[in-house]
Amino acid sequence: MIHVKTEREIQLMREAGKLLAACHQEIAKRIRPGVTTMEIDRFVETFLAKYGAKPEQKGYRGYPYATCASINDEICHGFPRNEPLKEGDIVTIDFVVNWRGALADSAWTYAVGEVDKDVKKLLDVTEQSLYKGIEQAVLGNRIGDIGHAIQTYVEAQGFSVVRDFTGHGIGPTIHEEPYVPHFGEKGKGMRLKEGMVITIEPMVNMGAWQSKMDANGWTARTIDGSYSAQYEHTIAITKNGPLILTTLA
Ligand code: MF3
Ligand code: CO
Repeated sequence: MIHVKTEREIQLMREAGKLLAACHQEIAKRIRPGVTTMEIDRFVETFLAKYGAKPEQKGYRGYPYATCASINDEICHGFPRNEPLKEGDIVTIDFVVNWRGALADSAWTYAVGEVDKDVKKLLDVTEQSLYKGIEQAVLGNRIGDIGHAIQTYVEAQGFSVVRDFTGHGIGPTIHEEPYVPHFGEKGKGMRLKEGMVITIEPMVNMGAWQSKMDANGWTARTIDGSYSAQYEHTIAITKNGPLILTTLA
């Protein structure tokens, strides 16, 4: 079932997205060697509470934390922990803001201090791939056009795209149809409609695309131990093109 949103609903999701972006900006200032992802998780909870917003992930299908914090070879849904981040690590912080019932979802991978040159390239390519996908989120296109653009770009840069997790429709619940793979064929899949709100959130690995699941039943990591990065925005499909809801400006 696809929930097409009214302009008013999208406006409220935009407010949620601005708050989320402001929170990411604060996280960026706090990520450095010695900080723990549990401290970041607490910071996010406090920040949202200050603005009267809620961390939607906490309690979602039993997920225990406000944020997902995925370090190095963890692809997604890493649990925040008390171990300090180290110089050269990368960490993806992903969370969903609930502002007066409207949701926004955005993830960002942060470098901890100085990272290797090839790791920096992984971050740059993954971020760029998100925008390649967003460019395709226009009326008349199909879901497959988004994944095709992302996959083609990422593979040409020598990296791989995770297949086991996808973007998704969002609002009133976190995960809704349509599902948005970050790989695929041009012209395939559902046609994009005005008022759809989706996430695009490519997870890109330095090595193989395959993932395996940790014993906690949540955290996915790369099968070969290679590093994985992710950038995610929540996007509204409008007649004026893709509207990124999870930015400040
Ligand atoms: N923010 C995640 C996403 O991009 C959703 C995490 S689900 C949770 O799809 F269970 F971890 F909360
Ligand atoms: Co997310």
